[in-house]
Amino acid sequence: MTDFDDDPLPVKRCVCFEMSFASLKAAGVRSADEAEARFGCGSKCGACVPYIQLMIYTGRTEFAVIALD
Ligand code: FES
Repeated sequence: MTDFDDDPLPVKRCVCFEMSFASLKAAGVRSADEAEARFGCGSKCGACVPYIQLMIYTGRTEFAVIALD
């Protein structure tokens, strides 16, 4: 069993920098570049970048896993 089994919206943070999307939103982050400049988010593995962009666009802070094909 994984976290994904119980939570339909398991993506909630930048794992590399332990920063939740809710915290980024509360900090007023308005672009992925700003998230990187202020908090480092996106500058390591980069996996959080599309979610940060979705957060900015939708205002949501929890997401399903995006499947990239
Ligand atoms: S999850 Fe954000 S840089 Fe890796």
